[in-house]
Amino acid sequence: MDYKQGAYKVRDLGLADSGRRDIAWAESRMPVLMRLREHYAESKPFEGYRITGCLHVTKETAVLVETFAACGADVAWSGCNPLSTNDEVAAALAQAGIEIYAWHGQSVEDFYWSIDRTLDTPPHLTLDDGADLIFRVHNAFPELADHIVGGSEETTTGVHRLRAMAADGKLLYPVYAVNDAETKWDFDNVYGTGQSTLDGILRASSILIAGKNFVVAGYGHCGRGVAMRAKGLGANVIVTEVRPTLALKATLEGCRVMTMDEAAAVGDVFVTATGMKDVIRGRHFASMKEGALVCNTGHYDVELNLEELVELSEKTSRVRADNREYLLKNGRTIYVLADGRLVNLAAAEGHPSEVMDMSFANQFNAHLKLVQTHQRGERLENTVIDLPEALDQEIASVKLETMGISIDKLTDEQTAYATDYSAGT
Ligand code: ADE
Repeated sequence: MDYKQGAYKVRDLGLADSGRRDIAWAESRMPVLMRLREHYAESKPFEGYRITGCLHVTKETAVLVETFAACGADVAWSGCNPLSTNDEVAAALAQAGIEIYAWHGQSVEDFYWSIDRTLDTPPHLTLDDGADLIFRVHNAFPELADHIVGGSEETTTGVHRLRAMAADGKLLYPVYAVNDAETKWDFDNVYGTGQSTLDGILRASSILIAGKNFVVAGYGHCGRGVAMRAKGLGANVIVTEVRPTLALKATLEGCRVMTMDEAAAVGDVFVTATGMKDVIRGRHFASMKEGALVCNTGHYDVELNLEELVELSEKTSRVRADNREYLLKNGRTIYVLADGRLVNLAAAEGHPSEVMDMSFANQFNAHLKLVQTHQRGERLENTVIDLPEALDQEIASVKLETMGISIDKLTDEQTAYATDYSAGT
């Protein structure tokens, strides 16, 4: 593709060919997003706009980035997690002329350095997964907000924080809650997280799931997806929750529900998917069985309190890629995967392309709406905004069509019946 040559810092540009093959593989499984690319490539609605993104650098993200670029945007990118960048993909994007600062195994300093480089040129639009870019604009470079038309947020945790910011009147520009589109949360969060989390656990440990006591902390959409897939592989699924309705749902869906204190003593595998900090902490680690395996699939690396685990430990060493052994003073061994960071992205490749297809079609639509609103000379309120329901249904329709699935349509009589209150039985 022919982009304006951007600046970059990636691990090794020599990895670009392999990354390019991976991106082509993802493109072949992301027909909804590719259709948007085809549709808007000629009119180039993003021409004159700079989109700055902070989201996992994967083959699927590359398809989104190159779709924006093909539709006229000047794109700058950094990863939203120090361990989730695919170095091959980052190299392919840099070689194609995308401005990108991302490599696997960044320090926290590298992470913020990368975000800051993407902000050296003021953006018109920001795209986040976890809100780190938006926070950086608000906390370090608030003057940039005057230039920003709007943003979007990909994940549940990010949306919660941005809604809190908006409620306090602190949000400096409008943000679309991409996470809250039905074609995002009801698919990506459930089936994407479910499959990719098991994928990460298996790549890092190669254990048999069948017969294990598999503890899932949190029965939101992500936790429910993980529980479903663990059950499918033959695990005895245990759920811990703080919300009574979700605990009840887990129970009626066939999981055993108990407190983390109870689960800690019986679990073989632990996965946190809560968005909350310290879900598994010192006293839980202390009561775990020999060989327990612990990981996190929530956005931030705060769900496992590893500082408390270190205090309980005599020594620690890496036993395989993304798998660290902690030898406790009580004589038992605990294995922590991916250093408590998102196990599905650090130890595997994140969600499959087919599901990211819909999530990223929503991202594309969010930014298209921001640009169209701007071009009409209008400005949205500085708040968190839902995408229109009609766009959701359109994404689902196109997805079904690309899968070769037809569905029924209501007749006019049926449509009238749906809102008819003149007759009952
Ligand atoms: N989040 C979860 N899976 C992902 C993927 N494959 N690409 C980008 N972001 C993701």
